[in-house]
Amino acid sequence: MKAIIEVRNLSFRYTNRDPLILDSIDLDIERGSITSIAGLSGCGKSTLAFCLCGAIPKSMPGIMEGSIMIDGADIKELSLPNLAKKIGMVFQDVDNQLFLPTVESEIAFAPENLCLPYEDIEKIINRVISMLNIGHLRYKNPSHLSGGEKHLAAIASILSLDPDIIILDEVLSELDRENKELIKNVIKILNEAGKTIIIIDHSIKNLMVADTILLMRKGRIEDRIEVDDSHELLYNRLTDFYLQQQQ
Ligand SMILES: Nc1ncnc2c1ncn2[C@@H]1O[C@H](COP(=O)(O)OP(=O)(O)OP(=O)(O)O)[C@@H](O)[C@H]1O
Ligand SMILES: [Mg+2]
Repeated sequence: MKAIIEVRNLSFRYTNRDPLILDSIDLDIERGSITSIAGLSGCGKSTLAFCLCGAIPKSMPGIMEGSIMIDGADIKELSLPNLAKKIGMVFQDVDNQLFLPTVESEIAFAPENLCLPYEDIEKIINRVISMLNIGHLRYKNPSHLSGGEKHLAAIASILSLDPDIIILDEVLSELDRENKELIKNVIKILNEAGKTIIIIDHSIKNLMVADTILLMRKGRIEDRIEVDDSHELLYNRLTDFYLQQQQ
């Protein structure tokens, strides 16, 4: 089956004076898969994610070459609202993503911008709240929530347009064990509902939720690991990858 994301020869720099942050990336992501992207801080993981969701270059300037196809459509041809229906991203800095007084209004924001009728928006809010089981957060102010709850609220806001692809940039990193399990469970629920998930993370343990792990180094995808090996083998391979770069 055709990959849901096809990246060809993607290179990017933020300005003419900057070095290449992404360097000739070729990448296929299969529909319905969970893919993790790992690599040292600064290797370009978030920049790649911004390119995949269209934030680069549509809202963040830079010099981009190559092509990205999402579900058979060239990302350059898609408007931001149409792109948001295909791919949603929870940013590494989640506080920048939440700006409304309640979780409910965060969920309603994108559908309201598309001028959907009130009854449809009400249905969307109920669908998202029941999918993530977050009825208790519905009327809470996102800025008063815990780290894990903020990430749930951000996931809820991108689910309002029911995108096929969800990118989670370091959502698991700063959570305690209980919240980590909560979000991992949500990832499972979303994947079982047919969503394609991309998780960016440093922690070897968190990477294990994926079925494919991409290893990035200095703007390139250096290796691809299928998670059908034993966890011990995988753990050793990932540890080697990180250790090599510290020498
Ligand atoms: N807006 C920007 N303008 C110029 N350079 C930037 C900008 N954002 C990021 N960079 C640089 O691009 C490189 C890659 O950054 P990026 O945030 O994509 O890495 P990352 O792998 O996500 O790192 P981390 O694990 O710390 O989140 C870094 O050298 C960073 O300093
Ligand atoms: Mg990052």
